[in-house]
Amino acid sequence: MEDYSIDELLQLGREHIWLPHTQLEDLEDPHSLSLAVTGNGCYIIDHDGKRYLDASALSHCCVVGHGRKEIADAVYKQMLNLEFAGSGMIPFSTSPTIMLAARLAELSPGNLSRVFFTTSGTEAVEAALKMARQYHAQNGSPNKYKVLFRNYAFHGFTWGAMSVSGDPVIRSPMFEPMNPMGVMIPEGNPSRCQYCSGPCNLGCARAIEAVIEYEDPDSIAAVIVEPIAKGAVVSPPEYWQDLQLLCKENDILLIVDEVVTAFGRTGTWFGCDHSGLEPDIMVLGKTLGGGYLPIGAVVASTEVAERFFGGREKNFSHSPTLAAHPACTTAALTNLEIIGRENLVQRSATMGIHFRDRLDTLLDHSSVAEVRYIGLLGAIELGVNGDIHTPFGLTAGKRMSKFMLDSGLFLVTRGSSFSIHPPLTITEEEIDQMVHILDRTLTFAEEELT
Ligand SMILES: Cc1ncc(COP(=O)(O)O)c(C=O)c1O
Repeated sequence: MEDYSIDELLQLGREHIWLPHTQLEDLEDPHSLSLAVTGNGCYIIDHDGKRYLDASALSHCCVVGHGRKEIADAVYKQMLNLEFAGSGMIPFSTSPTIMLAARLAELSPGNLSRVFFTTSGTEAVEAALKMARQYHAQNGSPNKYKVLFRNYAFHGFTWGAMSVSGDPVIRSPMFEPMNPMGVMIPEGNPSRCQYCSGPCNLGCARAIEAVIEYEDPDSIAAVIVEPIAKGAVVSPPEYWQDLQLLCKENDILLIVDEVVTAFGRTGTWFGCDHSGLEPDIMVLGKTLGGGYLPIGAVVASTEVAERFFGGREKNFSHSPTLAAHPACTTAALTNLEIIGRENLVQRSATMGIHFRDRLDTLLDHSSVAEVRYIGLLGAIELGVNGDIHTPFGLTAGKRMSKFMLDSGLFLVTRGSSFSIHPPLTITEEEIDQMVHILDRTLTFAEEELT
């Protein structure tokens, strides 16, 4: 690649790569692509040396920040020793894989103790869905196949994950019919609740109860939830208590998707620590490898794992070839070591106070309808004249994203909402700088885009 000039490389990129969520036509613009060349702390640096403050931890992944030599060194050492040990079937496992499994069992809430590795969060969701189904089959309830999911939830883009995702962007009619296992339930979002207009009366939890009754509890294998939904949506504690109780009463497994929230994002080790939820199965992804290498995991409770003992026919019927790749488990283990050593979970909680105070200043903007936060996860909801029901739209989102990029802030918005989740290493000064650019972006939107 050294034989190519930067311009030639970018031209090749525009011709050949297919970017997710990107209109291919946009790549015809010669300025549409940049080369990300280096990373340092909360900054990404492009081929021109321009620095971008990363307000998204690159799609929620890089909790420890960019350019951690310690992780690169550990992976390099592992790769020199052994690049791959097979898909983890008997007899071979590797030291980093075992150490990571043990560390996850130690950190995870309740009695989650058995770790199945995958290569991504989506694939961990797929594995969790199959695990729940097989658990019930081996527990004498083969008819339990349905999975309840919350409206607006996002669990990944593969077919199974898509079938249990309520986000309308993912649930495009183009891909219907979805897998019939998915059944939608209310998300318990105080900002857009359809069940109570005044003080919360837990109508959403009652609605879940009604869905379970209507669908027949004997047909329901699991419910999958994000403990804090993207956009820093925090459901009332009573909603979670009721959901947990409904699961217990109806023999429904609780799958908690911590792909985004695990390892400090919301100021606790796991998102479910806020509500005391006790998952039967937990799903990990993005923050596990910290963006350094692809890895996901499913952590099952001792009770769930017990149903997989007793003869070959009870083996978990799932086997991703490259899962438990020792380079990836080494990266994840080192990522977790850094999070622990640098107290990044606690830092997220304390730095979250400054983050909250600074985000609140944006409420002065006429376009801002709502600001939410928990730990270092934040969201701003916009609407024309502050009306949440009149969103700015995709074109405005594109122009705001470009404005931020030109101003040195990497944050993508679809238009009506900003989801803000920087690396947990962010400093007060960097938060101030981020909010300053957001402030200018909102002024630009109010003056130019309405
Ligand atoms: C909550 C949640 N679960 C699962 C996934 C899928 O993870 P990935 O795309 O990294 O495989 C995502 C992706 O954004 C997510 O936000």
